[in-house]
Amino acid sequence: MTTEPRRMLEVIDLMVFFENALAINGLNMEVREGEIVGVIGSNSAGKTTLMNALSGLIIDMRIKEKRRGGERITVYGAIRFNGEDITATKPEERVRKGIVLARERHPVFPESSVLENLKIAGYLKKKSEVKETVAHVFELFPPLAKLQTRKAGFLSGGEQQMLAIGMTLVVRPRLLLLDEPLLGLSPMMQRVVVEAVVRLREQTGITVVLSEQFARPVLPVIDRGYVVENGMLALSGTGRELMANPEIKSAYFGI
Ligand SMILES: Nc1ncnc2c1ncn2[C@@H]1O[C@H](COP(=O)(O)OP(=O)(O)O)[C@@H](O)[C@H]1O
Ligand SMILES: [Mg+2]
Repeated sequence: MTTEPRRMLEVIDLMVFFENALAINGLNMEVREGEIVGVIGSNSAGKTTLMNALSGLIIDMRIKEKRRGGERITVYGAIRFNGEDITATKPEERVRKGIVLARERHPVFPESSVLENLKIAGYLKKKSEVKETVAHVFELFPPLAKLQTRKAGFLSGGEQQMLAIGMTLVVRPRLLLLDEPLLGLSPMMQRVVVEAVVRLREQTGITVVLSEQFARPVLPVIDRGYVVENGMLALSGTGRELMANPEIKSAYFGI
């Protein structure tokens, strides 16, 4: 008997409007348990809006905008997590279900040390559990292990990104959402982060959705990818299929 991995996340006809501007336009996608799925798209394609919709942050944004009489945010369509409709589920409730987002440009607490930042992120978890995950974070990101007592504000961009991902791991996600984790990193740091994601999945079976502007560093490691243009799905397929696609080659690899 072949057992396909269980469908963990389903996005059905998702639309997100900021006032009258359509940021996500009829997007459909699915993520199976244990997969690494990429969302590839250029600047303004809708990656962050999609991540905010998946994590539920868009609900908070909508409430905030409404309260201050700001622009109207409207969401249509549905998001299902393990078969349950979570479209209206608040972000903190989604975190409890295991959906955790590392936001684009990831805030860390600059005056606190690396270790303190990780502990702060785990304030809701048992101490023993936090200790265990923190050890795992340092094992995944060796450069970070050497900087435990360094104030986060003094870390390089790459080190801060590792810390930000580490902080989400302390929350013990089942579905980890990484919004442009490679943004602004040197090619070497990009490799460190990409390799850590791969090892993380190997070691814990965690499911990952990561967004990225450039296909090159991520296509080799994703199981499947969705290419988004102007909030619409332009292409989807396995990492291998996308790498072989001529349009992708010219648009995202520059060849
Ligand atoms: N808070 C907002 N208010 C108005 N427009 C927004 C807002 N956030 C994003 N947009 C618009 O939605 C589109 C998608 O943006 P975004 O999701 O940030 O793209 P990406 O993360 O791929 O760069 C863009 O056209 C952007 O200008
Ligand atoms: Mg973005």
